Amino acid sequence: MSNNNLNLADDLAIDPEKAKSQSEKLGAIRVFAPATVANVVCGFDVLGFAVNEPGDEVEMRLTDTPGVVIKRITGDDGRLPLDAAKNTVSASVQHYLQHVNRLDVGVEIELHKKMPIGSGLGSSSASTVAGLFAINKLMGDLLSPKELVPFAMKGEELACGYGHADNVAPAILGGFVLVRSYEPLDVISLPTPAGMYAAIVYPEVDVPTKDARQMIRSKVLLKDAVTQWGNVAGLVSGLFMNDFDLIGRSMKDVLVEPTRSILIPGFEEMRAIAMENGAIGFGISGSGPSVFALTKDEGTAKKITKAQQQHLHKININSKAYVSSVNAEGPRVI
Ligand code: HSE
Repeated sequence: MSNNNLNLADDLAIDPEKAKSQSEKLGAIRVFAPATVANVVCGFDVLGFAVNEPGDEVEMRLTDTPGVVIKRITGDDGRLPLDAAKNTVSASVQHYLQHVNRLDVGVEIELHKKMPIGSGLGSSSASTVAGLFAINKLMGDLLSPKELVPFAMKGEELACGYGHADNVAPAILGGFVLVRSYEPLDVISLPTPAGMYAAIVYPEVDVPTKDARQMIRSKVLLKDAVTQWGNVAGLVSGLFMNDFDLIGRSMKDVLVEPTRSILIPGFEEMRAIAMENGAIGFGISGSGPSVFALTKDEGTAKKITKAQQQHLHKININSKAYVSSVNAEGPRVI
């Protein structure tokens, strides 16, 4: 089997004795996990990349009382469940512990939301990945980062009804990631061209991923599929070739964007602003309403977000902006 192939979590062999001795060494940890831009315009459910900000933080402590508990959530305005079975962080940690035969372990979790919920920036993914990275560290890195992906997908399933991997895989691995296949899961890390920046603007209207998925047609025309897979292949080639023009030409979506962009205020105007100000390409981040542009440098990215925010302000929409290089490392202990 090649390195890029990933066994499903349930096929992984875990030595319970190793798991037990490793977990005793660390008692508590705080982890940051990054936001992500899923789809990268043409690659619905198969492409994504991580950014350095925003992101979420999870504090985790091991206790003597078996079971996973959410002690506190900050920054969510009371929107996320404290019920451990319903919260994506605790539910995926529970699934992980079951898999590594450590249901004897007690875990207390504090989740600090540092990014907007329902923004299209992989909010649930960032929380879930921070939690999984934390528990895996506390257990002595029993699983590799790639092996954590299926557990994080369980969290996405809970959050939006479908376990897509194009947020969680780049959040865990960093950089650009291709989900070549779901069954079996096959996740491939792609290169990031030097100097690339993402200019992200979040117009503050709520678009839950669950709803944004339901509005997409489930059947596509062959001619549209041809356009789409040409662009996916072009984008991946562009990343390998450091060819910004090819990346930009490939950032076209004839399947999903025409429907979803209707939910995003000022979408076409923001596209025009991005392209007039030197973006390589522009589109919806994940399921929206955030939009993003890729640029060749930080200055261009800042110019674009500033002008887009001015436009949103004119049409009475509040917004947040993030300018970030591509995050190469994934989650980190803080
Ligand atoms: N691929 C997913 C979607 C990403 O577009 O619904 C959600 O952030």
